[in-house]
Amino acid sequence: MADPRPHGSTAVTAAGGTATAPALLEVEDLTSSYGPVRALDGVTLSARAGRITAVLGANGAGKTTLLRTISGLVRSSSGRVLLGGEDITAAPVEAMVGKGMAHVPEGRGVIAELTVDENLRVGALFRGKVGRDEFDRIYDLFPRIAERRDQPAHVLSGGERQMLVIGRALLAKPRILLLDEPSLGLAPRIVAQIFGLLRQLVDTEGLSVLLVEQNARSALSVADVGVVLNLGRVVVTDSARTLMDDEDLRHAYLGF
Ligand SMILES: Nc1ncnc2c1ncn2[C@@H]1O[C@H](COP(=O)(O)OP(=O)(O)OP(=O)(O)O)[C@@H](O)[C@H]1O
Ligand SMILES: [Mg+2]
Repeated sequence: MADPRPHGSTAVTAAGGTATAPALLEVEDLTSSYGPVRALDGVTLSARAGRITAVLGANGAGKTTLLRTISGLVRSSSGRVLLGGEDITAAPVEAMVGKGMAHVPEGRGVIAELTVDENLRVGALFRGKVGRDEFDRIYDLFPRIAERRDQPAHVLSGGERQMLVIGRALLAKPRILLLDEPSLGLAPRIVAQIFGLLRQLVDTEGLSVLLVEQNARSALSVADVGVVLNLGRVVVTDSARTLMDDEDLRHAYLGF
C-alpha cells in the first residue's frame, strides 16, 4: 500500500463519532493514462459506508479521471477498484448502476429538450418499474425541481440542474454516489443547500458519497474524510477536520 495511513481509521465524522464504518469502495494503486499523460499515478483510497469522502485538488490533479476510472469510463493501466469487496475494475460502465454505483459527471448533463420529469425518468430506466413514491421522494428532496417538473430542462438554473442530476442519480438507488464538482459555478447559498442535503441523505439513509471538489473549504465542511490529490498522486488522507485545521496543507494544495 502506497499510503501508510489506514484510511479514515482516525477520522472523526461530522456528527462527532469515530469512523469505523467498513470500506465500501476501495481503490488500490490505480494508474490511468491518456496516451503519454499519466493522470493517475498509483492512487489508493477508500470510501466508507455511510460517509462522505471528499477528493480535493487543483485543476489537473486527476479528480475527474479518478471518478471516470472508478466508473469504467476510463480503463486503468494497473490497480484495482473494489465495491463491497467485489473487484469491478474491468466491469463495463453500463454494469455499474446495477452494482450500486451512480456517477454524476462534471457539467450537469441534462437532456435540454426533455422536461424535468422526463429527465428524472431517465435515471430510473434501467431499474424496471419505479414507483410514483420514489419520484415523489426526489421531488420532496428538491422542491425547486418539483415546481418545474413539466418545464423543459433548458430553463433550469445551474443550481436546479445540479439538483436534477443528483435526483436522477438517486433514483438509481445507489449505495455510493460519485459526484464531480457539484459546486462549480454555483452561489455559496445553493452549494450549502446541496451539500446539506447530501449530509442528510448520508446520515439518515446510509448513502455513501465520494465527492470530488476543487472547492475544498465547502467540501471539507460537509465531508467526514478528505483525500488530497496532486498531479495524480495522493498527498494526504485524513479526517476532514484535521485537513481543515492544517494551514500549511490548505495553503499548499487547497487554495484557502
Ligand atoms: N481526455 C483527455 N485526454 C488527454 N488528457 C487528459 C484528458 N482528460 C484529462 N487529461 C489530463 O489528465 C490530467 C488530469 O485531468 P483531470 O481532468 O482528471 O483533472 P481534474 O483534477 O478533474 O481537473 P479539474 O479541476 O480542472 O476538473 C490533466 O493533466 C489533464 O490535462
Ligand atoms: Mg475535473
